[in-house]
Amino acid sequence: MKILVINGPNLNMLGIREPDHYGREIYADLVAKIERHCNEKGIEVEQYQSNHEGDLVDKIQSAYKNADGIVINPGAYTHTSIAILDAVKAVGIPTVEVHISKVEEREDFRQISYVRLACVKTITGHGTNGYIEAIDYLAEEK
Ligand code: DQA
Repeated sequence: MKILVINGPNLNMLGIREPDHYGREIYADLVAKIERHCNEKGIEVEQYQSNHEGDLVDKIQSAYKNADGIVINPGAYTHTSIAILDAVKAVGIPTVEVHISKVEEREDFRQISYVRLACVKTITGHGTNGYIEAIDYLAEEK
């Protein structure tokens, strides 16, 4: 089983950006935590982060015939990007949407998620544990 974990804009600033929303764990810690968990579970994992919408689309496309599941936190592109939605639809791979913060309790503009329309599950407000839950969900569904 191979899972691709994708993080969008500003998630490389974890631990620095708005710790009240996103906690104090830095991005490298998140990457290490996911790597460790997948090693323990015998899951192959690839992790990617970009601040650029087109690069995120390219990465999603690269999963076609190459990954069994995608975990994606598109950051602010969640609320704007039809291109990311279309890419997830195009590859047809089970995808879980993750948000570190509880987006449903935040600003109105965060209440729209385009990518959610193509996702099998959404996890919000569980901090970085949400990524682990998403991976386990995809592994169990497989
Ligand atoms: C986020 C929530 C988004 O609204 C925000 O733009 C982010 C992070 C989250 O993980 O809670 O960058 O996706």
